[in-house]
Amino acid sequence: MLDLAQRIVFCALLCSVYASCPPRCECSEAAHTVKCVSRDLRSIPTGIPGYTRNLFITGNQISRIGPESLKGLDNVTNLSLSNNRISEVESHTFAGLRSLRSLDLSNNQLAVVHPEAFTVQNQSLRELNLSRALYNHSSVMDLATSLRWSSLGTLKGLDLSHNGLIYLPSRIFSHLSNLRRLQLSNNSLVAIHNSTFSGLERLEELDLTLNALKTVPEEGLRELDSLPSADLLLGENPFTCSCGIEPFALWLNRSQGRIGDADGLVCAFPASMRNTSMLAVGSLTLGCHQWGAGAALVLQTSYVFLGIVLGFIGLVFLFVLYLNRKGIKKRIYEMRDAGRELWEGHHYRFEIDSDPRLSQASSSADV
Ligand SMILES: *[C@@H]1O[C@H](CO)[C@@H](O)[C@H](O)[C@H]1NC(C)=O
Ligand SMILES: *[C@@H]1O[C@H](CO)[C@@H](O)[C@H](O)[C@H]1NC(C)=O
Ligand SMILES: *[C@@H]1O[C@H](CO)[C@@H](O)[C@H](O)[C@H]1NC(C)=O
Ligand SMILES: *[C@@H]1O[C@H](CO)[C@@H](O)[C@H](O)[C@H]1NC(C)=O
Ligand SMILES: *[C@@H]1O[C@H](CO)[C@@H](O)[C@H](O)[C@H]1NC(C)=O
Ligand SMILES: *[C@@H]1O[C@H](CO)[C@@H](O)[C@H](O)[C@H]1NC(C)=O
Ligand SMILES: *[C@@H]1O[C@H](CO)[C@@H](O)[C@H](O)[C@H]1NC(C)=O
Ligand SMILES: *[C@@H]1O[C@H](CO)[C@@H](O)[C@H](O)[C@H]1NC(C)=O
Ligand SMILES: *[C@@H]1O[C@H](CO)[C@@H](O)[C@H](O)[C@H]1NC(C)=O
Repeated sequence: MLDLAQRIVFCALLCSVYASCPPRCECSEAAHTVKCVSRDLRSIPTGIPGYTRNLFITGNQISRIGPESLKGLDNVTNLSLSNNRISEVESHTFAGLRSLRSLDLSNNQLAVVHPEAFTVQNQSLRELNLSRALYNHSSVMDLATSLRWSSLGTLKGLDLSHNGLIYLPSRIFSHLSNLRRLQLSNNSLVAIHNSTFSGLERLEELDLTLNALKTVPEEGLRELDSLPSADLLLGENPFTCSCGIEPFALWLNRSQGRIGDADGLVCAFPASMRNTSMLAVGSLTLGCHQWGAGAALVLQTSYVFLGIVLGFIGLVFLFVLYLNRKGIKKRIYEMRDAGRELWEGHHYRFEIDSDPRLSQASSSADV
């Protein structure tokens, strides 16, 4: 009896020791922190203590996460799952984390993101880091659906940098009405459209550095103007300083106050304009309109010239006709006479052919 009791006590001690920290993890109750870093884990370990507020399971081999992975973690406020191999996030994966404020999924390979992947029961999520998190550009459609369906109305920061995004689906952020910071740097965005940023009235920071913007036409400028309180970063884009860029350059000059890197923006193309400050371009290409008008004038002149030449050729032709009028008359009479002879000949043959006796005679003669 005593033996059994000893064993139970021993086991309870041992189990509580084990329960206090999962294998291959480091736990600090005082700091409310659990770290399982670069330990080759293939799934989220069980037995994470309830006091945990900061949970780091980074640099492992986790590939799939779902609601069953994260149970009983009511107190977790910061969760980092960065540098794993997560390719699929199921619906309601984080729903049970009722205190979750910051979720870091950066450096993963998300190919499948379910519509309610980021739903958190309490709408407590404030920061979502998806930097270098998407497998390829195709995942952006899933992401757009998920940003819409996951009730992220309280989200303040979204990092979508380094994702190779080519375009942003229309209204992708329209349900993030409290978003303040949006990182889109190091993607391949080529354009800003009407409604790309709709719904982001409260945005304070928008980072578009290192994208593929050659210019921003009027439509995009209107869209950026619809973010009244947002400071912008636009550096490291391949701005092409040919004529069409003028509205953008003038807009830059006008909006300098809210463009953090306005002074550093330079043309990338054409080669002759490389490194020219974009702020100077507005005045440099003011000649653009004149050049355009000049080109139009040249074009007009050449049409007029072509007209004159054609008219002249026409006149010469008529003149030649006039000089030859007698010859032409003669030829016409000749042609008329020839026609009459031909007609009469034909008529004659026809009469012969239509006389049955004659035709019979000719055919019997043939035989
Ligand atoms: C969360 O923390 C509070 C106090 O810090 C504690 O009472 C509670 O048991 C914790 N929740 C869980 C699931 O352990
Ligand atoms: C938790 O996240 C917040 C931002 O959401 C941050 O200020 C804080 O430093 C983080 N705590 C830890 C321990 O990383
Ligand atoms: C909801 O989240 C807030 C923090 O954002 C927290 O104070 C509150 O206790 C949470 N409510 C529930 C029911 O967990
Ligand atoms: C997101 O994660 C990346 C890499 O882990 C980090 O460099 C970046 O600062 C994070 N973004 C934010 C907004 O904290
Ligand atoms: C993204 O990856 C998926 C799966 O490998 C593939 O079917 C799709 O064509 C890829 N899309 C792009 C834009 O590369
Ligand atoms: C941009 O992202 C690509 C991967 O998409 C990465 O290889 C490259 O180093 C990043 N560039 C910078 C300047 O961060
Ligand atoms: C942009 O969208 C608004 C409605 O949201 C519409 O009135 C406007 O014509 C659109 N502009 C362009 C250039 O598509
Ligand atoms: C452009 O400027 C950078 C740094 O300001 C310099 O390293 C580079 O050589 C310049 N390129 C040209 C073509 O002037
Ligand atoms: C830029 O704006 C300033 C006023 O803020 C103006 O004096 C200057 O001429 C403008 N430059 C160009 C190129 O339009």
